[in-house]
Formats: sequence, C-alpha cells, structure tokens
Amino acid sequence: MKIAVVGLGYVGLAVLANLLENGYEVIGFDTDSYKVAALNDGKILISEPKIEKVLQKYLEHVTFTTRPSELTKASIIYICVNTPEKPDWSVELKYFNEAKDSVLKYSDHETLVIIKSTIPVGTSRKMQHEIDVKRPTGRIRVVFSPEFLRQGYALDDVRNPSRLVFGGEFDEALKIKLSTINPVNQNKIIFTDYESAELSKYSSNNFLALKISYINEISMLANKVGANVDDIKKIMALDPRISDGCLNAGVGFGGGCFVKDTKALYQQAKALGVDAKIIKASIDRNTEQNRILLTKLDEIYKGFKKIKNESILIVGLSFKGNCGDVRGSIAIDNLRVMERQCNNISLYDPLVNKETLKSLDHKIFTSLEEAINNNKIILIFTERTEINKLDDELFEKKIVLDGRGILEQSKIKECAYYYSPILGEIKKR
Ligand code: UDX
Repeated sequence: MKIAVVGLGYVGLAVLANLLENGYEVIGFDTDSYKVAALNDGKILISEPKIEKVLQKYLEHVTFTTRPSELTKASIIYICVNTPEKPDWSVELKYFNEAKDSVLKYSDHETLVIIKSTIPVGTSRKMQHEIDVKRPTGRIRVVFSPEFLRQGYALDDVRNPSRLVFGGEFDEALKIKLSTINPVNQNKIIFTDYESAELSKYSSNNFLALKISYINEISMLANKVGANVDDIKKIMALDPRISDGCLNAGVGFGGGCFVKDTKALYQQAKALGVDAKIIKASIDRNTEQNRILLTKLDEIYKGFKKIKNESILIVGLSFKGNCGDVRGSIAIDNLRVMERQCNNISLYDPLVNKETLKSLDHKIFTSLEEAINNNKIILIFTERTEINKLDDELFEKKIVLDGRGILEQSKIKECAYYYSPILGEIKKR
C-alpha cells in the first residue's frame, strides 16, 4: 500500500517522515521543483533536523515528485498544503483546491483522503459532496484530521500527538483503518463530524493565542505595580485547569498559524452573524504587543529623531526562538517601521538562513559578542539565550529592550537602561 502526501511544508514533511518510520512506502508531491529536487537528495529546506534524519534513513522508500499523475499509485492521500490568509482575513484556498482537483483527476475509486491543512468550517463536507457528484462510482472517502504540531518539534508532535482527531462519516472498517495507520494510544483518538473537527483546530489555536494575549495584558498591569509576571505565570500554571502552556509574556505571537487562524476564525464567525468579541480582543492586544519595544523606544527617546544615527541591533529575526522561519516575524515587522527612520540597524540570528538575512539589506553579525560590542541599543525579539553566555561587562552603558525577558540579572545590572514585558523598566541610578 502506497501513501501520498501532497504539500511538503512542516506538516507534510512531518507526516511523511512518520509514515516512513511506520513502515509505509510514500510518495511526496509538491509543485515546487527546487524543494522536490532537494528532498530527492535527502535534504530538507526547513530547520527540522529530526525529519531530515528519518528521510535519509528511509530514502529508498520514498519518491518525491512534481507530477500529480503519481497520485494514481496511492490508496491513501494526505493533503497538507498551505492555506494562507487573504487581505480580508478569509482563508486562501487556492492551493487546497489545486490539491483537491489533482485528487479528483488522478486518484483511484477507493482512495482515502485525509486533510491535514487548516480549512474553513464546511470545506471537508463540501469536498466529499463534490467528489460524490463528480465520481459517483466507487467511493473516495474524505476525512479531516487537524494537525496541532509546533514548528521546531514537528516530528515529535506527530509521533506523539496530544490527540488525534478525525472528522467525517465513519463505519467500523474506516475507524479501524485510520487507527491502524496511526499507531498511537487509542485513548487519544477522537472520531467526530467534519464541522466539529474543523472548528476544533481553530478553537485550539485561538485559545492558545488568547492565553498569550491575556498574559501580555496582565504583564502590563504587573509592570505598573512592580509585580513579576513570570512568578504570576508559575502561580497560575500550578492550577491544572490553567496549565503552563502559552503563558510566556513577551512581544506577542507571530508565525504562520496563530496570526492567520485568529483572523480566519473571527472572519468566519462574522460571516455567520456571530460577533466574536473575545477573539477580536486577543487579535487587537497582540497587534499592540507586537510593537511594544518600538513604543517603549519611542517613549524613552521622545521620538525616533534622536536615534536616527544611533547603532541599533536586532537579536532574533525568526517568529520564535527555536526555529529559523521568518514567516510572520515580529522582528521584521518592527524592522520595516524602524528602517524608515533609523540609518544604522544591524541584525543577528544564527538560525535564519544567510540569503533571507541578506535580503533584509542591513549589516549582519554572526558573532553575538561582536554585535553587542558594536551597538548601543539592543532589541531582543526571540529567545536567543546564548546572550547569557557573554561577559556581563559587555552590557555596560547599553540600552536593552528585551522582548522575551531572557537576559540574566547580572547583565541587566550593567545596562544603562533595561526594559522587558516581564520586569518592566529598570534604569541605572
Ligand atoms: C502553533 C501551535 O502551538 C500549534 O499547536 C499549531 O498547530 C500551530 O501554531 P507554532 O506556530 O509552531 O505552533 O508556534 P508556537 O510555539 O505555538 O508559538 C507561536 C507564537 O507565539 C510565537 O511567536 C511564540 O513566540 C509566541 N508565544 C508562544 C508567546 O509569545 N508566548 C508563549 O507562551 C508561547
């Protein structure tokens, strides 16, 4: 039995690697010929070393292709294509529809289609209906299975998911088939209808995003009264009903999922006549929080004019600490604003590939020590904790705005000025 995976991004590659580990022969399909050529050589273009290792181990059991006709050979097809946001916050289904058309054109009568892409509520049922109308003989079955993986831990999360959800219409045989392909603890498997499965993905991501916006709002209050939001987090998290995930205050959420999924859910609710006030508030808080370091900088210098020629270093360009992905990067969004007014900006992020950094068109440092040494204002956007390995003295007279609250106390003491959403402002006397 061959299984095909359509769309070879984070989700597709993690699913594919997991299938290889479970002993399947796999076909990986993507329209990007550069990506496919690299994959056929056992190289992946994203920073997920565990996936690359599995790929290299099982290379003879996988074919990567740009030819959709190869899908004919698969009896199970996973759809893992990107579903980005449109300017009006609705979901761009272009790639999804292309994948659907390929399935319709090339798949066999009894194919099982498992959708992993995040899609608006109602899309899976529509797809099953369209297939039933266009292909009345045989039965292509469509199942929606939301993917909850985190970048940086993609394969671990697929190997050991917190839950495995299947939405659709099931008979016992299909339930057994799905449980067999996914050998996880059976208590984690939930079968439900299409709409509940689709909405469960949006609800989960929105709830996590909401937690981040909530703790960021609490951090503003904590800063005012001199409380430590990290301690508040620890205390809250000991209540199992709250738990500790997504309670780190900082510059808010970025990336390829929370940002688009919060907007998409708000937009879908609106179209259904539901005024999703909580979701909107979480988006609004995050939009403000993403600019918190610039707001502070503007406040302390009373405008950007005074720092027009000052040396400014941005530490961390990706959207979060443990990955090199700059999609939805908060740092780059801030950089775009700053570069209109400041002439001396430098960048540091060892996880972001050189071409991407180069394209930003500012001075790039590969040594953090040198970078700190050569700049007066330091803006930290992700958890680049190697900063704490440097000598404390390096921070003497520096203006540090620490968006993730990672700098150690001994270094903070040296700074002329320090701010983080966790500790608030600390000025040297
Ligand atoms: C997220 C979800 O975690 C995952 O379940 C879903 O399937 C896809 O979206 P990911 O985007 O990889 O995964 O990153 P995540 O680690 O959740 O972080 C998202 C953003 O929130 C990052 O910008 C991160 O820095 C920020 N974040 C996260 C916080 O500001 N505080 C936190 O406590 C956690």
